[in-house]
Amino acid sequence: MRHILVTNSKGGCGKSTIATNLAAYFASEGYSTALADYDIQATSLSWLDVRPEDHPSITGLAAFEDGLRYLPRNTDYLIIDAPAGSSGPELTALVNHAETIIVPILPSPIDIKAGAEFVDELMNKGKIANRKARVAIIANRIKENTLIFQELDEYLDKLKVPYTAALREAQNYIRAYQRGLGIHELPYYQTWQDWEQWEELIKWLNSRRSQPR
Ligand SMILES: Nc1ncnc2c1ncn2[C@@H]1O[C@H](COP(=O)(O)OP(=O)(O)O)[C@@H](O)[C@H]1O
Ligand SMILES: [Mg+2]
Repeated sequence: MRHILVTNSKGGCGKSTIATNLAAYFASEGYSTALADYDIQATSLSWLDVRPEDHPSITGLAAFEDGLRYLPRNTDYLIIDAPAGSSGPELTALVNHAETIIVPILPSPIDIKAGAEFVDELMNKGKIANRKARVAIIANRIKENTLIFQELDEYLDKLKVPYTAALREAQNYIRAYQRGLGIHELPYYQTWQDWEQWEELIKWLNSRRSQPR
């Protein structure tokens, strides 16, 4: 089973958006997929509530209550949606569930500063320092020709952590969320630019680079 954690202590950076889209992607690829929501706001579980029955099903776990107790044994991909404010022992516990970790960061001065501190804390966790878990960062809600995106882009390029995707701000994510779908389940003509931006991230997830040796 692959365990992919989406985390950042900052709220609103796109954790649930990326977690739900990853779950939909792997489910639509035919994998048995579960989505564990550790956020009491249950954004990911609300998305699952409206997922149409004619789409590949995803097992939702109210992890904020039960942890991973009801995780089906035959799961291929477990996507873990973390709450805002995770740090210290709570973050360590989450990290211990995963061997692949994705950190979304928004292009804003406040988010870049908070993101930098968070990545610092993350990289110092024993599991990650010992390479038992791999981390990648993605820029989210970018507006291509803005100075602040350029700043974030340059900053992420300089980090020693892989920077695997820059996802644009798009209504597609909002439409997909409302319908219980992922952007990969919306028509290609509407979402091809987003699919292209996800390619690098999916390639990384499918490679050994995102898994411990
Ligand atoms: N790439 C994007 N384009 C447009 N809206 C986005 C994008 N990513 C996230 N959002 C919106 O931003 C808000 C916060 O995203 P969310 O995934 O709930 O963040 P978090 O789980 O980190 O708090 C939501 O309203 C979501 O629809
Ligand atoms: Mg969330």
